Parts: sequence; C-alpha cells; structure tokens
Amino acid sequence: MLIDGHGRTVNYLRVSVTERCNFRCQYCMPEKPFSWVPKENLLSFEELFLFMKVAMDEGVNKIRITGGEPLLREDLDSFVKMIHDYKPDIDLALTTNAYLLPQTAQKLKDAGLKRLNISLDSLKPEVAHKIAQKDVLAQVLKGIDKALEVGLGVKINMVPLKGINDEEIIDVMEYCMQRGIKVRFIEYMENRHANVELRGMHGKEILAKVKEKYTIHALGREGASPSFNYKIEENGYEFGLIDPHKHDFCENCNRIRLTAEGNLIPCLYFDEALSIAKSVKEGDIQGAADVLAQVLKDKPKENRWNEFDPKDEDISARAFYETGG
Ligand code: GTP
Ligand code: 5AD
Ligand code: SF4
Repeated sequence: MLIDGHGRTVNYLRVSVTERCNFRCQYCMPEKPFSWVPKENLLSFEELFLFMKVAMDEGVNKIRITGGEPLLREDLDSFVKMIHDYKPDIDLALTTNAYLLPQTAQKLKDAGLKRLNISLDSLKPEVAHKIAQKDVLAQVLKGIDKALEVGLGVKINMVPLKGINDEEIIDVMEYCMQRGIKVRFIEYMENRHANVELRGMHGKEILAKVKEKYTIHALGREGASPSFNYKIEENGYEFGLIDPHKHDFCENCNRIRLTAEGNLIPCLYFDEALSIAKSVKEGDIQGAADVLAQVLKDKPKENRWNEFDPKDEDISARAFYETGG
C-alpha cells in the first residue's frame, strides 16, 4: 500500500501521454505554448509502463490516461492493452475532449479501456467554439455517441464560466440525464496559463443555477473522488460538483500524476515534481520506486485554490495541459 506523508492512501495514478492538444480551451491552453516538449524527451509507452508496473505492484489500482489530448498520441490502444493485460481488473479510464473518439472509441474498448471522462462545456456551437477556439461541438457530440455505442462508461465534465456558459448548466445536465450519464461541474481553477479575463463560478453559484429548476439533496463525497455528489429529488438523477476551492477538498486525496516526460507530480496546484525519466531509461526499478517514495513523502497537505484572491499574482504556475488536469 502507498501512504503519503499525511497518512492518505494513494491508489490512483494519472498518466499524461502528451501535452499537445487539438483544442485551445481558454481555461487551459488559450495559446499554443511557446515551445512543446521535444519529441525525444517524451517517454516511450514501455518506459512509462515500467514505472506504472512499480506503482501497480505497490497498490495503485486505478489508472487514468490524460493529456493534453491523449488521443493525439499514436497507437494509444497498444498502451491501453499493455496496462489491461498486466492487471485486467484495474479501473482503467481516460480523459478526453472527444474530438477523435468517432474513429478511436471501438479500438480503445477492444484494448481494455473501461471508462471515459469527456469535457463538454456547451451545447451551443458558437459558445463551444469560443471556449475551445475551434468549431468543435458537432464532432464532440458524435464522439460521445460513439463512446456510448461501443459500451464505454462515460462521465461528462463541464467548467462553468461567468458570462460564457453559465446559463447552460441545466441544459448540459439535462443532456446527460437523457443519456443516463453523470455530469460533474468543475470549479474553474485559476492558473498562470489560462486567459486572465476568465471568471469561474463558485460551487454555491453552480448549485444555485440547478436549484432554479430542481430540488437537490447532498449525498456526499464518493470515496476519495474529487466529486461531491448531489441527487435531484424530482427524478433521482445524480450529478457531481468538483470544488477545489473548498477547504475539505484535499482531505482524502488519493492521486499522483506522471507527465509524458516522466515528471512525477504530487499535487495539481504546485510546481514541484521529481523525475523518473533516468530510472526508467536505465531500467532501474529500485530507482523508480525510490522517486515514488520521495514524492509520496513530499505530497502537500492541500492546494491553495481555497485562498485564491483575484488581485493575487501568486497563482498556480502549473499548466493543466502538462498535468492532464
Ligand atoms: P473519476 O475517476 O471518474 O472520479 O475521475 P476524475 O474526476 O478523477 O478525473 P477527471 O480527469 O475527469 O478530473 C475531473 C476534474 O477534477 C479535472 O478538472 C481535474 O483537474 C479535477 N481534479 C482531479 N483531481 C484533482 C486534484 O487532486 N486536485 C484538484 N484541484 N483538482 C482535481
Ligand atoms: N479549471 C478547471 N478544470 C479544468 N480543466 C482543464 N483546465 C481546467 C481549469 N483551469 C478540466 C477540463 C477537463 C479536465 C481534465 O480538466 O475541462 O475535463
Ligand atoms: Fe486541450 Fe483538454 Fe486543455 Fe482543452 S482542457 S486545451 S481539450 S488539454
């Protein structure tokens, strides 16, 4: 079992396979980064997997593949298969913008992927275009349909932004309700790479929008998930709220993140990371295990989004496209 310096069990590894993306979401990567990680610095699937085996052998039983946009990495299904063949009962999921799902969903399912979390911030083509800075909606909706058709589990993530998609909270929820899939509303997390003009909605404001139409009951946090769940009285539908600005959010944090170039990140907020690249390139399993132990020891107690002040310059410097959110 992996236990961090604050006594929390860590059983969830998020692995980013690329920082590149085919969208330019305003809250993540509004402009193409000044430079991409050079291709030769990316770890191969075999190198990533060597570390993942160490983590799985020590107690990780949930793996999520992320990006950037993970479906941009070639032969991703072979990576999924590697993980699945090693531990068939692992909770194996992927987070995507869905744009490339129409042509990849079946292959991913066949390789052993179980679940997808998909970003859907608007059901209006022009609003989706404004957020992703590309005309994406029709293709994203096709991708969601395809994922459901091939039998992958699907959840939807929406980041409500003031004056942009804040009037669509109920519409997106009802779209999910009709398809029997769960939506999680995510508080916008301020970071240095995002468009500085964005203003997110606080969890309370998001819930107030839902309450304009429905009666809701709090269910609580789902295990160590970042999502706090609610139930709609009128029809029993359950949705989630991911509220990292709240003080209790980090209490049960169970996850660490690995980037495509091998940086092991203890917390999404802070810049600190340790590299496993040298160890895995040399096939040094003990070296990789030592880095993992150090990262667990150093894992911060909580993020600092809960102290966010718009006048404060000192906001998170971590790019979401590097960590995979
Ligand atoms: P499930 O396995 O379905 O519970 O997925 P998940 O919620 O762990 O994964 P997903 O990639 O869908 O993440 C949803 C959102 O939660 C993303 O915006 C993440 O950035 C955010 N999130 C996940 N973990 C953390 C965390 O440790 N800290 C913060 N602040 N946000 C997180
Ligand atoms: N704040 C909140 N959520 C974000 N995501 C990306 N950047 C941010 C941010 N700044 C979300 C995306 C995706 C998930 C991986 O992270 O919407 O669903
Ligand atoms: Fe790409 Fe996801 Fe970032 Fe949007 S949130 S720019 S889809 S990595």
